[in-house]
Amino acid sequence: MGDKELRAETLDGAPGGAKAPTAFLEVRDLRIHFPTDDGLVKSVDGLSFQLERGRTLGIVGESGSGKSVTSLGILGLHNRRNANVSGEIWLDGQEIVGSSPDQVRRLRGRNMAMIFQDPLSSMHPFYTVGNQIIEAYRIHNDVSKKVARKHAIDMLGRVGIPQPDRRVDDYPHQFSGGMRQRAMIAMSLSCDPELLIADEPTTALDVTVQAQILDLLRDLQEEFNSAIIMITHDLGVVAELADDILVMYGGRCVEYAAVDDVFHRPLHPYTWGLLGSMPRLDRERSERLLPIKGTPPSLINLPSGCAFNPRCVYSELNDGRSETERPELEELEPGHRVACHLPLARRKEIWDNEIRPKL
Ligand SMILES: Nc1ncnc2c1ncn2[C@@H]1O[C@H](COP(=O)(O)OP(=O)(O)O)[C@@H](O)[C@H]1O
Ligand code: SF4
Ligand SMILES: [Mg+2]
Repeated sequence: MGDKELRAETLDGAPGGAKAPTAFLEVRDLRIHFPTDDGLVKSVDGLSFQLERGRTLGIVGESGSGKSVTSLGILGLHNRRNANVSGEIWLDGQEIVGSSPDQVRRLRGRNMAMIFQDPLSSMHPFYTVGNQIIEAYRIHNDVSKKVARKHAIDMLGRVGIPQPDRRVDDYPHQFSGGMRQRAMIAMSLSCDPELLIADEPTTALDVTVQAQILDLLRDLQEEFNSAIIMITHDLGVVAELADDILVMYGGRCVEYAAVDDVFHRPLHPYTWGLLGSMPRLDRERSERLLPIKGTPPSLINLPSGCAFNPRCVYSELNDGRSETERPELEELEPGHRVACHLPLARRKEIWDNEIRPKL
């Protein structure tokens, strides 16, 4: 089944793609291109996915695959003067791509929040942590400063900041990296977002703090029933948190499935590579057996055919199709979509006999 048919199916045959979906978040054929002096950078090129409340989608791919551009697109944060954005992003029945900046701002404030890798970039250095949470809270809640301050202290306590009634008056630089990340989560959650986008939220943190932050997100999700998009280059980070995983390569989706399928029955050679290069505590770095050789492609001139073909050890098994014909995303098994020319039976054989035993 090709991309078009997939769309037709989800759209219930609606002409023009204008019908509102039933999913809480639905992204349809999203494209985000940047015209530059060197050429058109196709950072996101035909991405489609869905997410329900209370569920988590992991978007995984190497650096430069278009993950952050996607998340900024969902938040409606690209400047239309230097980005060409097309497709549809439906959030709770409202379409974002075609909305005015004012409408998007209102929607963002009410429904969405984002956690970045580097909290310092989104916290103001000259205001106390507490004041920033108070301001964020009061934008959407008509309450006195005193009530908002109590709420800020409460939120800081809930994200695990010790002595929150004292730390509320600290400045961001007085917090450690992990504490700052927690404070940013408190700030993001202080307006009860229905959609939380976490872009590499734990990349800069050590393993223990990383695990604590992921636990925290899981608890808060249970409490607020938020939908979460967790963006990472490391499949390990989303193994326990995500319900579904979308693997991106060169601005496109190459595999999209339930987390169990991605870890136990992956069907794309690039996903095999990501699994093989996952850091493992029980194994020395040098013992990782299947690192992906080569570098990610330029998004101005993607390789012809399958964008992964220069790095794929199976590209020659397809009578040259890997070099000439771009594989469409197909639903090979219920809810399991993959873009690769390899025959399904051959792929299962390779996974079972060659890849899985080495992981
Ligand atoms: N404003 C922009 N203008 C031109 N190219 C951009 C712009 N923003 C991002 N890109 C390019 O888009 C590609 C994807 O970037 P990004 O989404 O940040 O990757 P990831 O988050 O997966 O590491 C990169 O090659 C990046 O250089
Ligand atoms: S289409 Fe060819 S190059 Fe691309 S992942 Fe499949 S086998 Fe490898
Ligand atoms: Mg990024």
